[in-house]
Amino acid sequence: MVDHLPSPIEWRRGCVRLLDQRALPHSVRFVDCRTVEELCDAITTLAVRGAPALGAAGAYGVALAAHGSSSSSSVHAAAARLASARPTAVNLAWGVARSLAAYEQSGAAGALGAADEIAADDVAANEAIGRNGLSVIPDVDGGAQVLTHCNAGHLATAGYGTAIGVIRAGHDAGRVAHVWVDETRPVLQGARLTAWELHALSIPSTLVVDSAAGSLMAAGEVDLVVVGADRIAANGDVANKIGTYGLAVLAKHHDIPFVVAAPWSTVDLATPDGRSIAVETRDPDEVTEVAGQRIAPVGFRAHNPAFDVTPAALISAIVTERGVARRPLVRSLPALRPR
Ligand code: MRU
Repeated sequence: MVDHLPSPIEWRRGCVRLLDQRALPHSVRFVDCRTVEELCDAITTLAVRGAPALGAAGAYGVALAAHGSSSSSSVHAAAARLASARPTAVNLAWGVARSLAAYEQSGAAGALGAADEIAADDVAANEAIGRNGLSVIPDVDGGAQVLTHCNAGHLATAGYGTAIGVIRAGHDAGRVAHVWVDETRPVLQGARLTAWELHALSIPSTLVVDSAAGSLMAAGEVDLVVVGADRIAANGDVANKIGTYGLAVLAKHHDIPFVVAAPWSTVDLATPDGRSIAVETRDPDEVTEVAGQRIAPVGFRAHNPAFDVTPAALISAIVTERGVARRPLVRSLPALRPR
């Protein structure tokens, strides 16, 4: 374990144990998924979320199916259900496919071994992202002010975090002084999760409404924007939490570096550009309600795309464990691929 934060996902006596992110920040509780159906429900209701954590969840889900059944066809059917539980984060289908391939080779123990490896590799990748990310943090007297969106931290990964990994490494090195945390409507991953993590890590930070970003930038209060990713296309276009694209446009206007931090497992070289990324549309109630309380007139329609796509042209750099890709991303990103 890399720190004192509870593990977001682990295998515990035949169950997939998740730190239940639906309950944070009010309570730290765990949910033990004993069946693939329970795990799919946990994925769709955001008990576990964030691209790298979904990769590990998918892989452990195949192990769960393999331990509960001796029939290869039912393990394959469970794998298909897991892989399609959420469409945007490429890590989910990737983790499922890797664990399924290990199951084909070595049965249930193989699937579990692959899932454990995915989780361990993810933590190591995130720590490397943190180290590599030091090179993108602007040199500012007293440390940089960094703005982040959604939660790309410990909770969204198998541990340590991607965007928050860069912030953590930067803070440890005295290069990051303070973090602006976007609340991240509609389901408030910033207010509920990133704020909880940064508070636990004692990193100075302040919560703002999403629409505060422009005026903070105009006032010179933001030196760097760093976010995670759900899928990165071959040309460097990035799908991430809804609102990311707007932040990138604002950062460009104010000449502020806009950086994406993600493990290589989030890079999808088979997807040529952002137009081919499927963006999940979620329940309109997430928009018309806050914490179960209706905030819009009954019957009023809402549209709830969970992600948007930021064009590569607006991204200053993509930090991975394999190195930092800089503009033009269409050339520098594929150059980092494992040989
Ligand atoms: O809907 P969510 O909470 O799964 O969305 C998560 C994000 O958009 C994260 O920024 C992304 O998955 C990167 S997590 C390291």
